[in-house]
Amino acid sequence: MHDNKLDNPESGTATPRGPDTKLDYHEIPVIDWRLSETDKPRFLRELRDAMINIGFLYLGNHTVPKDVIDRVKEMAPKFFDLPPEAKDALDMKNSAHFHGYLKVDPSNTNDTDYNYRDIREQFNFGGARECHWRDGDPEYLKLHGEALWPPEELLPGFRDTLLAYYNHVEDLSYKFTQLVSESLGLSPEALDVFFDEDHQKLQPRCKVLRYPGSTDGKLGSGIGAHVDGSFLTYLLQVTDHRTLEVQNLSGDWIPVPPKDGTFVINLGKTLEKVTRRVLPATPHRVLAPTGPPRFSIAFFSSVGLDVKLAGHDLDFPPEVLNMKAARDKKLGVSGEFAFSEKDNELSGEVVLTRKLRSHADVAEKFYPKLFPKYYPNGRPEKPVTGRKEFK
Ligand SMILES: [Fe+2]
Repeated sequence: MHDNKLDNPESGTATPRGPDTKLDYHEIPVIDWRLSETDKPRFLRELRDAMINIGFLYLGNHTVPKDVIDRVKEMAPKFFDLPPEAKDALDMKNSAHFHGYLKVDPSNTNDTDYNYRDIREQFNFGGARECHWRDGDPEYLKLHGEALWPPEELLPGFRDTLLAYYNHVEDLSYKFTQLVSESLGLSPEALDVFFDEDHQKLQPRCKVLRYPGSTDGKLGSGIGAHVDGSFLTYLLQVTDHRTLEVQNLSGDWIPVPPKDGTFVINLGKTLEKVTRRVLPATPHRVLAPTGPPRFSIAFFSSVGLDVKLAGHDLDFPPEVLNMKAARDKKLGVSGEFAFSEKDNELSGEVVLTRKLRSHADVAEKFYPKLFPKYYPNGRPEKPVTGRKEFK
């Protein structure tokens, strides 16, 4: 199947993938984190090949403790068993920071091109961070702030378990980013320019996703082909469903089944831009599961809110540029990468615009100065929330 159509408009277009190329891998490599200590040249070589030529990898033997993973896998799905009123109290419309509960009910959206009939649910959260926005500050500083959590008595240990997981993955993400930098022939710190020094203006985000399975002839729900807007995405597949697929460079869809003890890592559009497409974002999709619902937890690393993606030029060595050129030649991609206008804007402004366009209710309640700009005719009758934020 050679379906290049993407349904994530804010993420832009993906690098073309077509049937004429020879880069048709059929398995996703497992990169062993321990090699970064025992045989670093091999680790960096394998990582570089996976990043440049595949764009998806499993990371095994990583630094997040097994008991932290086991606890979050057990705890995270419980959120969706809360009574509807408890979940609704945590609805994203109550968060200036776009955290909280999000559900997409196909009967109540304009998402007519989606072939599903059941409700998809998501719980969005971030680290324990205070909002420093004060009247007169740029509005995008409101993106930063504490998540909405269910009361402890309703779900004892939920907040602590999810935050412990989040903190471990965030720590892993900074270390892994330095290894990615080294694998591209740069200094370990070369990508740090996109992250502020003390990480106080960063807000990586995490989502627990529930995909309803198909039962009794009722359709389940997946996610159509898209690329992530993140820097890097670290995915934990909680259930055993084999419904995640990645598109290889020949345009074929390759399954990414769950593998115990690993994260699935894929490249986002932000990383594609700052590397000027040395590392292109990878199209992937989730097929509608059959049977019980599928759960996964995605961690999206992000750049500083006051960083401009077009603001820094990375000095790649010739061997990396040659690998990129060889790949692009096989793909039939020509021409230099060009930044778009918004790549010269602050990342916080770009992210806020995207979120305000997807969440009119949050815009109206928490961003009254910006609301008329995006909704000159008032709040739309049906929520616009849907595909754009449901990744
Ligand atoms: Fe995704």
